[in-house]
Amino acid sequence: MDLETPPPDLYGRPGADRFLRRMTAFADWYNPLMGRPGVRRSPRRPAARPVPPLQLVVTVHRPVAEGVVELRLADPGGDPLPAWQPGARIELTLPSGLVRHYSLCGDPADRGTYRIAVRHLPDGGGGSAEIHDRLHPGVRLSARRPRNGFAFCAEPAVLLLAGGIGITPLLPMARQAQHLGLDWRLVHVGRSAESMPFTEELRALDPDRVEFLTELTPAAELLARAPRGAAVYCCGPAPMLAAVQRAFDPAATRALHFERFGAAPILDGQPFTVQLGSEGAKLEVPADRSALDVLREARPGLPYSCHQGFCGTCKVRLTAGTPAHRDRRLTEEDRAAGAFLPCVSRAAEGETLVLEV
Ligand code: FES
Repeated sequence: MDLETPPPDLYGRPGADRFLRRMTAFADWYNPLMGRPGVRRSPRRPAARPVPPLQLVVTVHRPVAEGVVELRLADPGGDPLPAWQPGARIELTLPSGLVRHYSLCGDPADRGTYRIAVRHLPDGGGGSAEIHDRLHPGVRLSARRPRNGFAFCAEPAVLLLAGGIGITPLLPMARQAQHLGLDWRLVHVGRSAESMPFTEELRALDPDRVEFLTELTPAAELLARAPRGAAVYCCGPAPMLAAVQRAFDPAATRALHFERFGAAPILDGQPFTVQLGSEGAKLEVPADRSALDVLREARPGLPYSCHQGFCGTCKVRLTAGTPAHRDRRLTEEDRAAGAFLPCVSRAAEGETLVLEV
């Protein structure tokens, strides 16, 4: 059939009737390549177009707690920024080239500014130090659009549990919970009152719903603050998350959503060896350390960001050996082409992985 020419009317008249005209219009919309048999494309999956990075400028840089600075970032021309929802993170490329991810902690209704808060980590690879020392108002940087792997589902009752700087994704959740009239509680655990940012902002939402703890508190006691049937959202360091996961009782609470910062814990790690190129040094990776940590001792400039196998920043090329991929980023094609994320991926005991780094 010639698809360039509308088919005749269903009743034999020369022109297409209204039904066929609509069908033809639908088909044209459905497949922009209509008329070229064999070419199909789902309207739900348009061809991926590269998304240009956002260009941002620092507008505010100020301390908000001991060792924590707040940054506000805006479009240099004042245009509105892409929308986001509580729990979203943004990937920043710092002027040095380091790539880092931060939770947005401002108000999603404010389309003019992104707000992040960054704790200075002396052993953090330089990203937090650069932000603290060099990202003053006027400095420009690029970013990827916000992405959300920790979405707030706005269940009728919620408990928000924050450890340290893990308060950042939970602050917009608390704001939204208050706005929606949910039954919410927030507990923020920190090493001292001075080190905990945004306490006044949280109290201003509802002082009876927020609690700040500076003493070690068992996870079961934290979870006991949850209204019955509440969903729990937890963000903090890996040991806190592990304790909350162990103590979580699905019979008493509805769901546990969590986001970790810092390195992912190593589960069932076995010692193995990485070799720097086919002729290079061999480095032992102990059962309790990541290959990335070991590699960075030999190659301190090796880039990384999330330390959790989702950003892809630490990608290296594997040229020999059998890997055990543990990331959430690489496709089968990437892996077949030799991509390897040493922040989380490993190998069986005794295996040697040859890496181009
Ligand atoms: S540092 Fe993000 S995937 Fe390895």
